[in-house]
Amino acid sequence: MEKQLDPRRMPAHVAIVMDGNGRWAKGRGLPRAAGHRAGMEALKEIVKRSDVLGIKHLTVYAFSSENWKRSREEVNGIFRLLVVYVEKELAELHANNVRVSILGEWRELPREAVEALERALETTKDNTGLQFHIALNYGARNEIVRAARTLAAQAAEGRIAPEEIDGERFSACLYTAGIPDPDLLIRTSGEERLSNYLLWQCAYSEFVFMDTLWPDFTPERLEEALGEYQRRERRFGGR
Ligand code: IPE
Ligand code: IPE
Ligand code: MG
Repeated sequence: MEKQLDPRRMPAHVAIVMDGNGRWAKGRGLPRAAGHRAGMEALKEIVKRSDVLGIKHLTVYAFSSENWKRSREEVNGIFRLLVVYVEKELAELHANNVRVSILGEWRELPREAVEALERALETTKDNTGLQFHIALNYGARNEIVRAARTLAAQAAEGRIAPEEIDGERFSACLYTAGIPDPDLLIRTSGEERLSNYLLWQCAYSEFVFMDTLWPDFTPERLEEALGEYQRRERRFGGR
């Protein structure tokens, strides 16, 4: 662990926008798929180090609801890689007591991907170590709309009164129900935007933007971001 990191001030929840796979590949004259493959390798190391560092929740943005706009070839390639990732990594994730969960409309993904994910969820469901959340076919606005619909339906059926709807109830209807809000959000590749990620949950998150392209994001870079986080003063609107 980096010397200046304080184990008592580790964020409970780190969220990452894994961006820059395409540019990484382009810079090497490789197809975009090669960038996604390299990105998957980077992710493996980040999951391991997060666990070692004592982070309780790691949430990664793997595929947004807007990423369907990409070519069919790229999209299919990403889902094939996802299946490969689960097949290659599930045993080790499980051995490391990692619990996998998925955020987003993941049941709409191609059948092979859904089946691989179901295996990962089922295998790791009783694990008590790092909680590894993968955002797949995820869009935060849609997540918020879904929550509003759920609560509106409950109100229409007379099961709750409109005035009973508060932040806590709302949070409980999001994909992230039961997960604490991210303390730290990291985005790689130099882009400084949320791209429809965790809009509700990031109300008071610290943002760290790094120029590193995702496939080059090493555990050392993660520790750098954690160091930056620990130097920040969080005020939550207080003095
Ligand atoms: C992030 O890398 C991975 C996904 C969105 C699936 P990109 O593919 O967005 O890489 P750039 O932004 O084009 O470099
Ligand atoms: C966000 O990155 C989605 C993921 C990393 C999965 P994008 O590359 O899709 O975001 P934009 O298009 O640059 O905003
Ligand atoms: Mg991108």
